[in-house]
Amino acid sequence: MAVLLIGSGGREHALAYAFSRSQIDGDIYCTPGNGGIAQLATCIDLDVTDHRSVIDFCENNEVGLVVVGPELPLVDGLVDSLEAKGIKAFGPTKAAAQLEGSKAFTKQLCRKYEIPTADYEVFEEVGAAQIYLNDCSYPIVIKADGLAAGKGVVIADDQAQAKQAVQDCFDGRFGEAGTSIVIEECLVGEEASFFAICDGEYAMELPTAQDHKCAYEGDTGPNTGGMGAYSPAPVMTSEMCQRTMDEIIMPTLKGMKAEGAPFKGVLFAGLMITSKGPELIEYNVRFGDPECQVLIARLRSDLLPVMRASCDGKLDALVNEFDDRPAVTVVMASNGYPGAYESGSEIKGLEEAAGDPDIMIFHAGTKNQDGRILASGGRVLNITALGETVSQARDKAYAAIEKIDWPQGFYRKDIGWRAIEREKETM
Ligand code: AMP
Ligand code: GLY
Repeated sequence: MAVLLIGSGGREHALAYAFSRSQIDGDIYCTPGNGGIAQLATCIDLDVTDHRSVIDFCENNEVGLVVVGPELPLVDGLVDSLEAKGIKAFGPTKAAAQLEGSKAFTKQLCRKYEIPTADYEVFEEVGAAQIYLNDCSYPIVIKADGLAAGKGVVIADDQAQAKQAVQDCFDGRFGEAGTSIVIEECLVGEEASFFAICDGEYAMELPTAQDHKCAYEGDTGPNTGGMGAYSPAPVMTSEMCQRTMDEIIMPTLKGMKAEGAPFKGVLFAGLMITSKGPELIEYNVRFGDPECQVLIARLRSDLLPVMRASCDGKLDALVNEFDDRPAVTVVMASNGYPGAYESGSEIKGLEEAAGDPDIMIFHAGTKNQDGRILASGGRVLNITALGETVSQARDKAYAAIEKIDWPQGFYRKDIGWRAIEREKETM
């Protein structure tokens, strides 16, 4: 069975790596892919906004499963177009992808099905939102409704900041994404990422993770797509995981089915673990990047049959097995990221760095030019390691980074600090 993977990040390299180890034989295609994926798959150029061209490729190449990595093609309904032609596609339909595509949709679902989340109001015009802000307690959170590449959220410390954020949103700072906004209570606690593969009715729980969103050490500096991650998240005890399944994931699946939009694919809940327990900050309808890299590093079973079963509504017959050992991934990014950066510099030493079987190097913004690996994006590499503890995994990842010769890149030196502090407390 041939597989077509859509995307170009570290997440997709990790998925391609999992597919390359599958018992299910067949070609792996990826569009557009990157320099690392090209070592495992045939990279092709398709315009994924042109659904017809994706369908034609699948039909001409006997593709039995399409796996969509990022959110945009999901929210754009690619899965619907493929399914309409009888092509299996892993991921939610356009209607179900609203869980990520519209924050207002998700908040309304939470209210209707009593899923714990921050108290909120939705506004479609600036005047009413500004009046509401007169009587709020601060800090408060302002969110553009639609997809804003992680940049549509402002935590406002006071009324002036909040009013400015609301004004910016309605002035078009986030384009279409900001034509309606959610204003919500600021939750206090520790954040964690929770993942479940779903088939419309059943949810298969995956290991938890935590990521580091800020560019610089000490979780400071501008927000990024994620500078590193580790799995599991120590705050997610088995009791917290069970509560998340019972109070958040399962009610969401039931609610989505009742609304006529059953959810299939990866449901990624961004959680705040508050004094009351797990509360939903937001949903994503895909694997996290870089969280996927640490999940795949720990995965021991075959992912492709699970993805197929998700499409077929038959997940309950399968189990996933994961290594008990924790994994850490450290992102190497181009100097300047998340601001302006230069592309085209050569990265050397990758083979030597990946010499240990517990080390996996997943590429993001790279390209392979005549056998040389060149940086071609903001986030460039994910140096991923397994260890007996988070601190050991972290040490292995940093030792591997020492072998990489790429002066034009930088990385955070404190990935995993929160988990490592906890390890120290319990030792
Ligand atoms: P989101 O795009 O909804 O995940 O928000 C981005 C980040 O903003 C989250 O990872 C949190 O760190 C923060 N955030 C969002 N909503 C809240 C909230 N209600 N309370 C506290 N922090 C929040
Ligand atoms: N790392 C967070 C995300 O993928 O949305």
